[in-house]
Amino acid sequence: MVNSYLNLSCVINAQVCLWRPFRMLSTRLYCIVFILIFFVVLLFNHYYISKNVVDDSINSNIGASNGLIHRHTSSPPFDSDDLENVYRIDNLKYRINEMLRIRGSVSNELKNLESKRQKLQNEIASLSNRLVETQYQLTKKQSDLNRVHFSVAQAEFTQKETALRNQPFLARPIKLLPLSRPEISSDNINDLVTNGCTMTTCFDYSRCSLTSGFPTYVYSKIIKSETTHLAFEEDAFMSAFRLNPHYTLDGSIACVYVVFIYIEDAEININLSIPLLQSFLHNLDYWSGDGRNHIIVNLNSSVDIIDLGIKPLRALVLQSKFNANHFREGFDVIIPPLNSNQPQSSIQSNCPARRKYLLTYQGSINKSFSNFQTKKLIETMRAIANQTKSDEINFDFNCANNCKSLSTQSTFSLILPPLEKWYKSHPEIINDIFHLFKIGVVPVLIGGRDYKLPFHEAIDWRRSVLHVPIPRISEIHFIVKSFSDSDIIDMRRQAKLIFDRYFSTHETIAKTIFSFIRHQRLDIPALPAKEDTYPFLYNSTYTVDKYLEAFDSALNQENEIDENLGPIESPFPSTTFQRNFSLTLCHGYYLWNSAHLNPFTLYPNTPFDPVLPSDAKFLGSGYGFRPIGQGAGGTGKEFSEALGGNWPKEQFTIIILTYEREAILLDSLQRLRGLPYLNKVLVIWNSPRKPSPDVKWPELGVPIVVIAADQNSLNNRFKPYNQIETEAILSMDDDAHLRHDEIIFGFRVWREARDRVVGFPGRYHAWDMNFNSWLYNSNYSCELSMVLTGAAFFHKYYTYVYTYTMDKAIREKVDEYMNCEDIAMNFLVSHITRQPPIKVTSRWTFRCPGCPVRLSEDDSHFQERHRCINYFTSLYGYNPLLQTQFRADSILFKTRIPHDKQKCFKFL
Ligand SMILES: *[C@@H]1O[C@H](CO)[C@@H](O)[C@H](O)[C@H]1NC(C)=O
Ligand SMILES: *[C@@H]1O[C@H](CO)[C@@H](O)[C@H](O)[C@H]1NC(C)=O
Ligand SMILES: *[C@@H]1O[C@H](CO)[C@@H](O)[C@H](O)[C@H]1NC(C)=O
Ligand SMILES: *[C@@H]1O[C@H](CO)[C@@H](O)[C@H](O)[C@H]1NC(C)=O
Ligand SMILES: *[C@@H]1O[C@H](CO)[C@@H](O)[C@H](O)[C@H]1NC(C)=O
Ligand SMILES: *[C@@H]1O[C@H](CO)[C@@H](O)[C@H](O)[C@H]1NC(C)=O
Ligand SMILES: *[C@@H]1O[C@H](CO)[C@@H](O)[C@H](O)[C@H]1NC(C)=O
Repeated sequence: MVNSYLNLSCVINAQVCLWRPFRMLSTRLYCIVFILIFFVVLLFNHYYISKNVVDDSINSNIGASNGLIHRHTSSPPFDSDDLENVYRIDNLKYRINEMLRIRGSVSNELKNLESKRQKLQNEIASLSNRLVETQYQLTKKQSDLNRVHFSVAQAEFTQKETALRNQPFLARPIKLLPLSRPEISSDNINDLVTNGCTMTTCFDYSRCSLTSGFPTYVYSKIIKSETTHLAFEEDAFMSAFRLNPHYTLDGSIACVYVVFIYIEDAEININLSIPLLQSFLHNLDYWSGDGRNHIIVNLNSSVDIIDLGIKPLRALVLQSKFNANHFREGFDVIIPPLNSNQPQSSIQSNCPARRKYLLTYQGSINKSFSNFQTKKLIETMRAIANQTKSDEINFDFNCANNCKSLSTQSTFSLILPPLEKWYKSHPEIINDIFHLFKIGVVPVLIGGRDYKLPFHEAIDWRRSVLHVPIPRISEIHFIVKSFSDSDIIDMRRQAKLIFDRYFSTHETIAKTIFSFIRHQRLDIPALPAKEDTYPFLYNSTYTVDKYLEAFDSALNQENEIDENLGPIESPFPSTTFQRNFSLTLCHGYYLWNSAHLNPFTLYPNTPFDPVLPSDAKFLGSGYGFRPIGQGAGGTGKEFSEALGGNWPKEQFTIIILTYEREAILLDSLQRLRGLPYLNKVLVIWNSPRKPSPDVKWPELGVPIVVIAADQNSLNNRFKPYNQIETEAILSMDDDAHLRHDEIIFGFRVWREARDRVVGFPGRYHAWDMNFNSWLYNSNYSCELSMVLTGAAFFHKYYTYVYTYTMDKAIREKVDEYMNCEDIAMNFLVSHITRQPPIKVTSRWTFRCPGCPVRLSEDDSHFQERHRCINYFTSLYGYNPLLQTQFRADSILFKTRIPHDKQKCFKFL
């Protein structure tokens, strides 16, 4: 029995020894195994024990039966055999009891051991878990620490850099205004009349400091004879003048004084009325003897007031018709005729480039001219018309009425200047050019550059009007024939730009006049662009603690990849208004003639600034630059620590447009925690119902600003909110799911293409053969032309243009459909830059998987988008979208690199 007990304990011990290697087995399996073994052992023991017992009992049974027989038969005297039997039975009983006791104690012990084992097991498991956890935490904290170390080094560097910066950012000097009325001049007036005027000799700059903002006083009284009645248009024009932001009511602080003059040549006693009108002029409140800083605007475009005998003295004359003899170059200004300029709504398509005729002329030239050159001109034209066998040229010299019918069918059309008298500029030429612009014909102005067109010092008319000198008329066919389709369409595009921007309405003409005097004559920068302010619904303030906290919790977020994407920085704004004077003084041509900028407004930043050469940032101009590896370059590690690139460090603002989807919004916000380079999150609350007061806005480490839109409009996505302090904007749908690395990569790509839309979901426009129109397409494709602004970066500049410069009809269509704002933005940017957008990363979808599908994803949504593309195309006169086959991935993406190097991004 002792043996068997030992056996048992050994088996148990062996099992304990065995458990160790099998610790990894699940406890359940383990229990079963244990119980099995336990039973086997018990059975084994039982077998042994019972075998002994049976052997004994067989013996005792035999004895007992004998004994019983004895007992039954006779009174049993105890013999030695019986005694021995009794002893053996007692012994047996004792042994059985003993064994039962042993069994009990063994099983107790087993139970104890088992529970101890279980406890130890649990302890080991939890300890090893903690070990793993701690190791993970350690590496995490280590990398955090590294990051913080790096960020501190960065901050120190920034501090040092700021201290070392020898040239502080200039602030604008205080506004300087003249304190009193202009003094009366004592100059001899006759000298002025004979010597003419330049800005230096005749203009008083002291009233117009660069910081004055160009205050302009407009006389309310028009200089005209009693009998004259103003047409409605002239009236409208003058009110447009008074609406201009430079308009002031205080004549004593004004820089320039505008006076309108209206003369009807047809008046019978014109010779009598001229001296009268002149005396009106010279008695104006601020005339000061010589009309310094006065601008005389002649409202009747068909007369030249100087020709009629009005003496402007030191005042600038603005009119359409100038006799060549007394136009003061660099002083007087040619303006478009005001009367014939009703805004025209008909928009001609730029395509097809070529129409039925290549070149046409229609007019009545049936008299003979005495001037030799003119005679020659007409003869040559007739000869050209006669010789050309093809249908390309159609000259009609005997047109009596409706002399514009032919031009609608032509690609180029000739404009002959008035041939009988010499003018510097003439309203008929201007009107003819505008007419051709409106119907999409390229004007060919015979007489070339001898004729000046409105604002010719600023506007480059050669980009939209073909100037041909009179002697070149014989070569005209060859010249126009050499123009390619793209040149022709480009000229039409430029014509539309010039016409829409400077001449389309009375307001734009007034604006152009103001800008021309301010910019071309006085070099004063434009007024800053208007920004939108809306009431706050919520704004969180930024503190360093919160930022670090948010960073910390972001690192522990499970759904984000653990990757160092940039240093921890506090939010800082982009620098603004650095080019007030360089743009105004040096880039006048660009301002007036390109679609990129305009002369009316000064923008805080534009995406078109010149880029520094890469050596400059190491040789004195390094302020704000964060070259990768301090200029030595590097792979993933160095890359993640510095922004690199060709522009100084900066941050971006996220704009989220939302409509009462609080849960989805909060989830999206939550995901932005600890995003590097983020400056601020602007939530545009598009619903009239306020967010519920118990919304718990998450702590992102950067401010969240929730502003109340005044109406539910998708255009609100693109407003120039004054809360946006960075150049880069990331526009996001409230349900957009973007990972941090994707956002940072997009931001880095945008920094290299600041004038483009850079984003994730690509779409394209496809030509519909059946209906000869455009279709919006969101299928997979290898070419794209739009990037949806539900997840895209663009420059803040475009928000000004979208809201205040772009055709109003586009914004109205967006509101009508509650759709297409992203198409409108892509049209705008491609129109301005003539570049396609840039798609980054391989992702096609970007919405969150669990979010409810938007109403907009149905068929009517697509129908509207088809219609939008076609409507916008008609407004622009062409489809500005361009196809691209380009996609940006990070440089080391899918490149084999040595093990000691890191990729730029782990997954991109
Ligand atoms: C540039 O113009 C803006 C807007 O008028 C002004 O705020 C800023 O101070 C100016 N900067 C300089 C250097 O003149
Ligand atoms: C301007 O003057 C012309 C003739 O000199 C006259 O026929 C015309 O009515 C006047 N007014 C306008 C608005 O052109
Ligand atoms: C005005 O005076 C000029 C000469 O000064 C003369 O030639 C012209 O005929 C006069 N015009 C009228 C309408 O009286
Ligand atoms: C046109 O050409 C024909 C001959 O081809 C000639 O008879 C005619 O006089 C020409 N007309 C003109 C206006 O040159
Ligand atoms: C010139 O043409 C016009 C119509 O445009 C007509 O009234 C006039 O009589 C013509 N003159 C000559 C000399 O043919
Ligand atoms: C936050 O909003 C309050 C009004 O709700 C406003 O007074 C305060 O100036 C705002 N703070 C910032 C930093 O914009
Ligand atoms: C997209 O592709 C599917 C099939 O590939 C086609 O049926 C559908 O018309 C396409 N959609 C558009 C807008 O072209």
